[in-house]
Amino acid sequence: MNTRPGTHRLAAGFVDDSHEMIGETNPYVVSHREFGPELIAADQAQAQKGDWTGLFGRDAPLELELGAGNGQYIARMARLHPERDWLGLELRFKRVEVAARKVRAAGVRNAKIVRYNWFFLHEIFRDATVAGLHIHHPDPWSHHSQAHHRIIDADFVALAERLVVPGGTWRTKTDFAPHVDRLLDLAGPSAFEVLDVRRDIVTDGAPWPDEVETNYQRKCREQGRPVLAIWLRRR
Ligand SMILES: C[S@@+](CC[C@H](N)C(=O)[O-])C[C@H]1O[C@@H](n2cnc3c(N)ncnc32)[C@H](O)[C@@H]1O
Repeated sequence: MNTRPGTHRLAAGFVDDSHEMIGETNPYVVSHREFGPELIAADQAQAQKGDWTGLFGRDAPLELELGAGNGQYIARMARLHPERDWLGLELRFKRVEVAARKVRAAGVRNAKIVRYNWFFLHEIFRDATVAGLHIHHPDPWSHHSQAHHRIIDADFVALAERLVVPGGTWRTKTDFAPHVDRLLDLAGPSAFEVLDVRRDIVTDGAPWPDEVETNYQRKCREQGRPVLAIWLRRR
């Protein structure tokens, strides 16, 4: 599976590997392509060339969730904010389909799940087109030897600076405190200002008014583990 630019043989760009994987045992490699309008396969996303307003058929603010998981968050947010369009990016074939099912079950037309790798976002999003970035419980890659896999680093903040419109926001919730500490360090000299940070949103509440729990967040709550939140705004 494609990982990061520069660390993989496909460093030149994200390749829709579903074609070369056909025939393998994962049934979702084929079925995700036939799901329906709630699910955009990687090659369709590339063909879109960043014209997401064309896909939704209107010019509404675009909210982007990276690592949509089971789709619970995006489906609920799309219901809560029908005036906005929602794209959930997810790499894993089965999760892409599970998330698209959540969107379909929610009965919303303003949300879609895209199979893509978040390290190649620049291939399918134009600069200054994202009104809101949502990254919740990204994998911790907690061992220092795995740190290069983490999404929150200087390269990604630079990419986010390009994609998010001035005045646009970035929300992250996580139970892995180093993600928040790193983002605080990186935000300082960046085009993002820190609006708020919470070290435990169960006790302190979320910084934003429209809080919606993600699947991993629920697991943390049930296990009594604190979830941190950080809210940024693009200057
Ligand atoms: C720990 S889960 C969190 C899911 C969800 N955000 C939540 O809070 O419940 C991280 C998700 O990120 C996805 N992911 C990991 N690396 C990715 C990448 N490079 N591009 C897109 N999605 C990725 C994983 O497949 C997984 O669904």
